[in-house]
Order: sequence, then structure tokens, then C-alpha cells
Amino acid sequence: MNIQALRGMQDLLPEQKEIFRFIEAKARQVFECYGYQEMGMPVLEATHLFKRAVGDGTDLIEKEMYTFDDRNGDSITLRPEGTAGCIRVAEQHGLLFNQIQRLWYHGPMFRYERPQKGRYRQFEQIGVECFGMPGADIDAEILLLCARLWRELGIDKDITLELNSLGSAEARVKYRTVLVEYLTSVKDQLDEDSQRRITSNPLRVFDSKVPQTQQLLRHAPLLKDYLDDESKQHFQQLCEQLDKCDIAYQLNPYIVRGLDYYNRTVFEWVTSSLGAQGTVCAGGRYDGLVAQIGGKGTPGVGFALGLDRIALMLQAKFEHANAADIYVVSNGEGARQQALWVAENVRNALPQRKIVVHCGAGKFKAQLKRADASEAKLALILGETEVTNGTIGVKFLRDDREQISVNVADLNDILNRFFS
Ligand code: HAM
Repeated sequence: MNIQALRGMQDLLPEQKEIFRFIEAKARQVFECYGYQEMGMPVLEATHLFKRAVGDGTDLIEKEMYTFDDRNGDSITLRPEGTAGCIRVAEQHGLLFNQIQRLWYHGPMFRYERPQKGRYRQFEQIGVECFGMPGADIDAEILLLCARLWRELGIDKDITLELNSLGSAEARVKYRTVLVEYLTSVKDQLDEDSQRRITSNPLRVFDSKVPQTQQLLRHAPLLKDYLDDESKQHFQQLCEQLDKCDIAYQLNPYIVRGLDYYNRTVFEWVTSSLGAQGTVCAGGRYDGLVAQIGGKGTPGVGFALGLDRIALMLQAKFEHANAADIYVVSNGEGARQQALWVAENVRNALPQRKIVVHCGAGKFKAQLKRADASEAKLALILGETEVTNGTIGVKFLRDDREQISVNVADLNDILNRFFS
């Protein structure tokens, strides 16, 4: 076949889809128990929505958007993230003014990045956005919610929380001046991208992965020393709240985030188990964004988790998730019909069990091989003799036990006992 998926676009095979479903179900359950409401937004939006929200000097806007003109000549973009669209929806439908909202969404996002493990051009996010709450309590709440979700998913031991505060816009302007001064003094030693960013977006130099640049950044002035008093207090309240609820975190003064809309709290949940793409969830506060997009000033805070990355973390646990419990094989036309009928009866009696019927005939030996490959614990065997006698063969595929023959009428009881 010479038509292949586009580079970086993931095909989701049944085993992966199963993991995605598991994550989504747990997220839904946790979000509901905190009183968050699900909403949805279109995959396509006007290009200027993202430009206005995310910021012109960012990689996302400069080189990662899937942007094209529609048949009408309007510039449209496949959403690279969810926050801008969520605000557009909430604003357009009057959900923000003088109101408090706790919203969540999930779905595909699109970024033209260099694909590698854990980094795709189409990927799934589950996002949360909260509006109308300026205090540190809601920042703490969404982090508690994340922590609960990691526990539910069984990955809490593999993820750590890193926290920082970006302060107010005014504090960042002050800091920017001293940072630019420092970066200019070492400009010749910085990598090319970072040199360019000195004028376009100096805070983003902290995102550089180039070792020599990282080394130089260790001596750079830090934003935390330039924070305004209110932001300092907000951050302190957040840390105290997390301490009280036993949520462990590390302060990381180098987190600046790749999107320009943040102020005060920013955070990343990271794992060391995924190599370079270790950030599985990230977010923060964006008090100026609603006004920037065109609404009345409303504080906001949220995060998005990368489903693809969390699914990679869970892969090992799901290795046997698709295993069948019972595999039904048959020999002969009459037995084949009987097999479907027997399987239906077993499903009625054992609705939690996965029962696979071998369809499409085939040699008996080959069918038993399939039964073994399905990882089923039992094979139910039907031949013409069994049909005539009203019996069925039960073969124990994983135990050292002789095959038995049972009356079809007794089968459900026997299976119930075996699986209890
Ligand atoms: P972000 O940090 O750009 O933030 O993305 C959030 C998460 O999406 C990342 O931590 C990562 O797990 C996942 N992710 C991002 N890019 C890719 C990719 N190319 N392939 C696979 N996974 C990826 C945002 O998008 C913000 N809208 C989050 C937010 C919501 N902030 C406030 N509210």
C-alpha cells in the first residue's frame, strides 16, 4: 500500500484506543466529582484568534500552525491548543461576564512540530479552564484535581509537579530589561535561536535545550527576584495550600512556558519515563487573556494534559488488557451455529467476561492456535458429537488440567465457578 499516514499524524490502533478510553473515563469521573462541566469547541478557528491569544513571538505562532485559506479566502487554522478556543466559545455565548465557570474539554490539537516519540502533529489533549476566580485557591484546586487523576490512573509515583510564578505583566517588563542586558552581554556564546529571541521573546531563551546556552542561563538574573508583592503573596498562598493537602512540588524558576498568555502561577507535571518529551501536563494562570481576546477582563487559570504521552506511560500496564476470557471453537456447520448461540447464553450469564467466537471456519488445530493467541483462559469446543449430545468441551488453556465435557445446561454454572 503506497498511501501512508501524513508524517507525525498518529494512527490509533485498537490497543491504543483502549488506553485513551481508559484515561478519558477516569478524567471525566474526576472532573465531575469536582463540579467541572464538559464543553466543546470547533477544530477550526479564525487564525487571528490564536495569534492574538498565544503571542506573535512564540514558536507555536511563528512555525507550528496548520494555517490555510478556505474557499472564501479567509485565513483559518487547525487549533494548536484549546485555551483560546474555549475562551472564544465562553465569551461568544455569554458564559464569562460576572460568572464563575469550571470547564473541561478534550479532543485533537494540531502543531507542525518535528515528530518523535511523544511529539506528534496531531495529538489529543484534555484541558481544563476556570474563569472568574482570582485567588490562589482555584490554582490549588486544579493541581489537586490533577494529583487525584494521576492516582486514579496509577501513575502518581512517576510524575512530579514543578511550579513557578511569572508575576504580573509589569514585573515581567522590569525583569525583561535586566534579562536582555545579561543575554546581550553573552550573545556571541548563545545558540542562533536564542540570539534571535533576545529581541523577539527573551524569556523563551530559557526553553533552549542547547547545553552551552543552558550553562550560561545558570548565571542569568531570575524572574523570581523581580516579582511584585501581590504575585509573591499569591504564590505563597498556593504553596501553603498544596503543603496542607500533602501535594509534593518542586520550585523551578526556569519554567517560562511556550505560550505568551500566562501570568503568576505556571506549572508542569513531568516524568522521566518518556525521554525528551517528559511534560505530560502543563498550564497556569492567564488573567489578561480574556480581555486580550476581546472580552471583559476575567481572571482565568487552567491546564491541558497530553493524552498521547500519558497513554505511553500506561502502555505496559495495558499489555494484556485485550486478552479474551473464553474462546469458542467449532467444527462443522451445525456446530458453528450452536457456537454463536452458546456464546450468547454465556454472555448473558457472565456479562463482565470477554467471549470471542471463532468465525470463518478453518481447521480445528488452527482454531485452537487462535484460542491460545487470544490469551483466553478457556476454550469451549463444539463438534458434531457435542451438538448431537447437547454437551460442550471445556479446555483449560492455562492450567495443567484434563479437558472436560459438560452438559450445555450446566455450562454457565461451571463457568461462573471457574471465574469467581
Ligand atoms: P502546552 O504546554 O502547549 O499547553 O500543551 C499541554 C500538553 O499537551 C503538553 O504538556 C503535552 O503533554 C501535550 N502536547 C503538546 N504538544 C504536543 C505534541 N506535539 N504531541 C503530543 N503531546 C503534546 C497548552 O496547550 C495550554 N493550552 C494549556 C493550558 C490550558 N494552559 C492554561 N489552560
